[in-house]
Amino acid sequence: MVELGVNIDHVATIRQARETFEPDPAWAATFAELGGADGITIHLREDRRHIQDRDVEVLKQTVTAKLNLEMACVDDIVDMAIRLRPDQITLVPEKREEVTTEGGLDMLTNPAHVRSTIQRLQDAGLPVSLFLDPNLEQIEAALALQVEAVELHTGTFANAAGEEQQAELQSLVQVGRTIRSAGVQLHAGHGLNYRNVHLVAAIEDMRELNIGHSIVSRAVFVGLEQAVREMKRLIVETARAANGNRTGR
Ligand code: PXP
Repeated sequence: MVELGVNIDHVATIRQARETFEPDPAWAATFAELGGADGITIHLREDRRHIQDRDVEVLKQTVTAKLNLEMACVDDIVDMAIRLRPDQITLVPEKREEVTTEGGLDMLTNPAHVRSTIQRLQDAGLPVSLFLDPNLEQIEAALALQVEAVELHTGTFANAAGEEQQAELQSLVQVGRTIRSAGVQLHAGHGLNYRNVHLVAAIEDMRELNIGHSIVSRAVFVGLEQAVREMKRLIVETARAANGNRTGR
């Protein structure tokens, strides 16, 4: 089954635009769960531009689905994760000037730092997912670290069209095979929307998709519960059809 993790950072972004109390990401998590979200994803950035420490504390107490905390390899956030124990940590790179996470982690330039962060988290019993570009060299370096999951960055795929998009999809399929054959869970996310999600949900053994912007954008018009329900239906139907084609049923 392909699970849907709903990224609710965008709700906190609206709140922070006024530095007020609403909309609260905790409300968003409740409606996302009612719409069928399997997980709630939040990114506690170093600059705290959207999700705040309080949000992580409140969501840890209120979310009943899987709580996935995205973070950079930063000591005080690692300390907080170990104290609060979300269900999964996704390690991402962070640049101060970026609008959103622009690329996967670099596993080749400073692997020791990533390795020691993974070690601390795993020693505390927290499953770790690494957000990576669909680049074989990066993936192989990551697989050597024995993480529980790899989330493929689908941003380049999402921004491409036509043959270029097909080529990007093929890269995702190929590195996906490498990840699965190492016994590591396959996740994907970034830039996925109601028009392109079927292509990624159909990848064999895809386990989790993390989607934020397109769901929250649709929610402005149809409400969050409905927006999540529509995305969830697309994912489940596509994955079921793709499995049926593979097994000849
Ligand atoms: N996965 C990761 C690791 C991300 O950093 C983000 C963006 O915060 C997403 C998924 C969701 O991306 P989008 O908002 O484009 O759906």
